[in-house]
Amino acid sequence: MAFPATRLRRLRASGVLRDMVRETELAPSDLVYPIFVELGTDRRTPIAAMPGIERLSIALAVKEAGAAHALGVPAVLVFGIPAEKDEQASGAYDPEGVVQLAVRAIKDEHPELVVICDVCLCAYTAHGHCGVVRADGVIDNDLTLELLAKTAISHAEAGADAVAPSDMMDGRVGALRSQLDSEGFAATPIVAYSAKFASAFYGPFREAADSAPAFGDRRTYQMDPANADEAVREAVLDMEEGADVVMVKPALPYLDVIRRVKERTDLPVAAYNVSGEYAMIKAAAAAGYLDERAAVLEALTGIRRAGADIVISYHAKDVAGWLN
Ligand code: PBG
Repeated sequence: MAFPATRLRRLRASGVLRDMVRETELAPSDLVYPIFVELGTDRRTPIAAMPGIERLSIALAVKEAGAAHALGVPAVLVFGIPAEKDEQASGAYDPEGVVQLAVRAIKDEHPELVVICDVCLCAYTAHGHCGVVRADGVIDNDLTLELLAKTAISHAEAGADAVAPSDMMDGRVGALRSQLDSEGFAATPIVAYSAKFASAFYGPFREAADSAPAFGDRRTYQMDPANADEAVREAVLDMEEGADVVMVKPALPYLDVIRRVKERTDLPVAAYNVSGEYAMIKAAAAAGYLDERAAVLEALTGIRRAGADIVISYHAKDVAGWLN
């Protein structure tokens, strides 16, 4: 009698059938490419821990977005580094702010490319926290909601196709939804960073966005990495407040959370393969410890297999090139 395993091996041994029964596909059309935009002209600022990723001034960012689009990546996620930071994060909602200018320039040049704007205050506050800090050191949730809504409106006015609140304040999805609806942007979707963990893997991003908190940490608003039930509650809440897509972030240490959020919300799920995840593979590949292409494709396929419909990744442009 044959071992049952034989049946499995028969398919694996046949190249064509193996491809036909593959359960998970990874395609450029699943990807979102994050870009960091700074002011100035012809500026490229490398990010030490993220080889291949740079802060770009607007015209260069437009080119980079166009290059990703030409490879089949349908969307970019825009982060801005403002000229000045202050207590009220005024650069975040300045109609002439770096993100607003960049969005207009990208949409002018590449109208078909989907532009998603990260909505948060941390790159714009002098202290680097995601909200307005009161005199007693506590974040003022409700005042922050007003500024986040203002920021989202300014992005929509600049032409953003979707807004992605990443601040983790309470009630922000509902606040953004009602403001967008009342200001003529009822059709603008919200991609909510619903289960955003207080993660060590954001380190390189904070260098890139110059957004490391000057005091304390983000554990009063970002999630404890130990909690998955709570992640599901966060995602369900965001769904009830009107989120169109829910996100889990980071991706690789939280594949179980991606799966559970997918099953419990039935919404499209995005997963953010964050800066530290990118840095690990790049560093290991540079040292000759890993085959970069194989490792990246395996990691991103795993994120899709876990249940992510959309994968946000700094590898997006490379992956699209490899898959073409
Ligand atoms: C802003 C924000 C962060 C990231 C995306 N939006 C940083 C943070 O919360 O500190 C991290 C992305 C990455 O690490 O690639 N709140």
